[in-house]
Amino acid sequence: MRTELLAPPTYLKGFETLEEEVTLDSLPLEGELPAWLSGSLLRTGPAKFEVGEHSYRHWFDGLTMLHRFSFGDGAVSYGNRYYRGNTWKKGQETGAIPYPEFATDPCRSVFKRVSTMFSPEFGDNANINVVRLGERFLSMTEAPISVQFDPQTLESAGVSFKPPGMITTAHPHLNRATKGMLNFAVKVGARNEYRFFHLGPDSDQPEVTAKIKVKKPGYVHSFGLTERFIVFAEFPWVVNPIEIPLSGRPYAENYKWEPERGTRFFLVDRETGKAADPITTDPFFAFHHLNAYENDDGTIVADIQTYPDPSVVEQLYLDNVRGGIDLTPSEIRRFTIDPAAGTVEHEVMIDTPFELGRINYGRCNERRYRYAWGVAATPGNWIDRIVRADLEERSHTEWHESGRYPGEPVFVAEPGGTEEDDGVLLSVVLDGERETSFLLVLDAHDLSEVARCEVPHHIPFGFHGLYSSTV
Ligand SMILES: [Fe+2]
Repeated sequence: MRTELLAPPTYLKGFETLEEEVTLDSLPLEGELPAWLSGSLLRTGPAKFEVGEHSYRHWFDGLTMLHRFSFGDGAVSYGNRYYRGNTWKKGQETGAIPYPEFATDPCRSVFKRVSTMFSPEFGDNANINVVRLGERFLSMTEAPISVQFDPQTLESAGVSFKPPGMITTAHPHLNRATKGMLNFAVKVGARNEYRFFHLGPDSDQPEVTAKIKVKKPGYVHSFGLTERFIVFAEFPWVVNPIEIPLSGRPYAENYKWEPERGTRFFLVDRETGKAADPITTDPFFAFHHLNAYENDDGTIVADIQTYPDPSVVEQLYLDNVRGGIDLTPSEIRRFTIDPAAGTVEHEVMIDTPFELGRINYGRCNERRYRYAWGVAATPGNWIDRIVRADLEERSHTEWHESGRYPGEPVFVAEPGGTEEDDGVLLSVVLDGERETSFLLVLDAHDLSEVARCEVPHHIPFGFHGLYSSTV
């Protein structure tokens, strides 16, 4: 059932194609940037929702645009550029959607679908997350192609590596010891398996470190990491991969919600690659783990931004978000896994929806922590608040301005800072009335405004990005 819109749908601009590509030496700036902020925010996201006469169907499907906000000497420069890979080029040449996306299929015959069943073709529309691996900057998605780009010019630099499976995540973790990447992929075939892999900072050859056999893989968008374990939550939104090419339905529409399976937690030992039998708990769904760590008593904590079921995926079809919003709220749940007892308990941490959460990753990932910063939507509206969560006090504070729609707040730690929350947040915000976007810089301690700088166009709503002090 749809909630009546409480506010005029001024967020709609965030789902419109942006044609302009610009390079601007200096953006108009209100406020004063910290002198220490010297580097770049690099973001990816969908920015074009049509190819010729054809339209993508889902927010997750639009063509990849990269954005760069660079800070130095108190000023901000900006650039944006489409990722001109195979998906882009083939689409421009043919005027048709060339490759399957999350919830959009290209126009193909049954014969073509069957003929590509065991050697599926994937595009390189990597619009979910930007990741740094050694000196490489990658734009990643769940199709098994990670692409590289130049962080200065945003120009496409080709395929970086291919994961060992057909489906992967755009949320790898950093292996602190090697500076490489830890991620997983679903290998599909006569037997399906989850494959966890490591990729060195200079390598293009993933090394599989652990395998778990699975009949029907779950949709998994991210995972947690402690110093000893990979925390892998398999939600009961599952697929029989062999059915995908035959079903005539786009990829995402082959997943089925089977709540009776429950959610299975696997703990994969990072050292040995061994995983004990999974521990099953109540069914839930999530895109994003927030953090995980080990307690002294041997229990493992996994904080996850959860939904009761995957109906949010349906809600994010473009027709739905353009027709009025009824987003199921997600909440931060803390799961405490006791491997010895084979139990999982959970509690809700704060009294507000919370998504796209970020932490002080360099200091706190895999470790006990206190703060997270994310976004939330007022019921009946698009995401319109930035939330600071204090997971120790179990409290939160918010930034909100009517008619403004913020994206993921990226935490940037102040060099030499002593407290976990010493730093700023960078969030791209749509001004729904002016139909342009701005970069908002908030003090991470209290969400007070530090500065904002205006972009001359709107920036379609994106997903994730990173801050690098070296580019
Ligand atoms: Fe994500």
